[in-house]
Amino acid sequence: MQDITTEIANRRTFAIISHPDAGKTTLTEKLLLYSGKLHTAGMVKGRKGRKAAASDWMAMEQERGISITSSAMQFDYKGVIVNVLDTPGHEDFSEDTYRTLTAADCAIMVIDASKGVEKQTRKLFEVCRLRQIPVLTFINKMDMPGRDPLELMNEVENVLQIQSYAMNWPIGSGRAFQGVVDRQENQVLFFSKTSIGGSQRAGIERQALDSPETKDRIGQELFAAIRTELELLEMAGNAFSQADFLAGKVTPVFFASALTNFGVEPFFDAFIHLAPPPHARSAIKTDGAEVLIDPSSPFSGYVFKLQANMDRRHRDSMAFIRICSGKFERDLVVKHQRLNKEIRLSRPHSMLAGERTTVDIAYAGDVIGVINPSIFAIGDTLSIRGGFSFKPLPQFQPEVFARISPKDVGKRKAFDKGCQQLLDEGAIQMLRSIGQDTDVVFAAVGQLQFEVMQYRLKDEYNVETSLNRLPYDCSAWIIGDLSTFSKTTNSLLLQDRQGRPIALFPSLWDKQYAIRQNPKHKLADILDAESSATNEHFTR
Ligand code: G4P
Repeated sequence: MQDITTEIANRRTFAIISHPDAGKTTLTEKLLLYSGKLHTAGMVKGRKGRKAAASDWMAMEQERGISITSSAMQFDYKGVIVNVLDTPGHEDFSEDTYRTLTAADCAIMVIDASKGVEKQTRKLFEVCRLRQIPVLTFINKMDMPGRDPLELMNEVENVLQIQSYAMNWPIGSGRAFQGVVDRQENQVLFFSKTSIGGSQRAGIERQALDSPETKDRIGQELFAAIRTELELLEMAGNAFSQADFLAGKVTPVFFASALTNFGVEPFFDAFIHLAPPPHARSAIKTDGAEVLIDPSSPFSGYVFKLQANMDRRHRDSMAFIRICSGKFERDLVVKHQRLNKEIRLSRPHSMLAGERTTVDIAYAGDVIGVINPSIFAIGDTLSIRGGFSFKPLPQFQPEVFARISPKDVGKRKAFDKGCQQLLDEGAIQMLRSIGQDTDVVFAAVGQLQFEVMQYRLKDEYNVETSLNRLPYDCSAWIIGDLSTFSKTTNSLLLQDRQGRPIALFPSLWDKQYAIRQNPKHKLADILDAESSATNEHFTR
């Protein structure tokens, strides 16, 4: 028992959230570099591949046999086992991005210092808030001309409605960015340049903040300005406690440059110290009572992602399982709660430093991929003991909509069968007109989901499809009495598979107008399947 508790306490499972181009890939690479696992720059994901068109993306997936885009990587950082869950952005942004985040125990929010809090970051942050995932903030690209650090801290607070606490404070910015003040230690960390591209660790020299050497090195003027800012932070800034961080009330903020490695190592060191190990997760017993599953209890986990294997040689698909408690051993026999049957988890895989390997043993906090012979659905709970299911995964507002139909009407049956499979997997959402079944609209949070859908219908069901995009940009579930809901002119009112009303809007402006027109209704961006709990911050 002791070894399981120690193993679990030594794990940090997290996701990096950011708007495209803020530096998520670069920071992930640096984590690998500092853990001694990076062999070649750019091994995390081929940037070229990631930015390529969707068809190329699929060719890439085929080549590799299995997606690495939404799985997890595991490695050792200074004796701590780190699991990084990849939350795809860019063209491959999809519901999986959100769902993967629910499998994390903590998140690193990367913000570009010249841009501040951007749209995609805001959305992902809301999932963290909903799932009570603590967030660390990494203000990146300090080596470039950026915005004022105090202004960035204020923006985090105002836009995301969370207190911010500067763990360190930058000395200079742009080309003059030379180090940070470690506020806990009252020390200055001076960084020294490495080879271009930051493929080597940055040198770090520590000096007492108030030493004459520090003043000389920084220069009297800049030193005085930094001292004033630090005093301001002490007097007017927030306090920091680990308990408030874990409760999602405050985010510790770090200023750094992932590209040049300036501030990267102190950040990772602080991260493994602050980030929580796997915690107890709430589940619902078969009698409806809520129960907390402690990470040290016997094996349990849930499926957060399904991936159809696009490799023709192996026509299997994978289910990615976040282990919530206990120890997993190869060929473990577990109870599949939804199907109420015992299954053997054979041929488990994990991603170790970018390479797919077979796992013999894994612990709470880890992610394993198992072959899915069409028995797993998103959210399925597996456990040794049985008798409970983890909280259902929330649903997220779709933002792209289309009518999709078979080109050959004779293929209708195969089309319906394929759609059913994709809907069951959670690969796509389907909406219908209220009161009639005829008008079907497919919905997704990212364009790639449609492309994958069309590709898979052709590849697996031999159905060529035509797609007609609809002119809507966002949506919201309507909570409240539908008969008193005032539908705005440009919106389209539909219902989801569970019969819940959802309105589609051509723009955020139209959506906000509808919110104002319907003060008695709640327009929800995230729907928690269990409670219909919603989050209205999302639309800001
Ligand atoms: P993402 O995964 O969040 O989308 O961002 P990514 O790491 O790919 O970084 C986006 C761009 O920003 C890259 O440049 C990257 O080199 C650059 N970048 C990341 N961190 C920093 C930083 O700390 N300082 C500066 N100055 N730039 C940074 P690119 O030109 O798009 O790609 P590449 O040719 O460098 O690979």
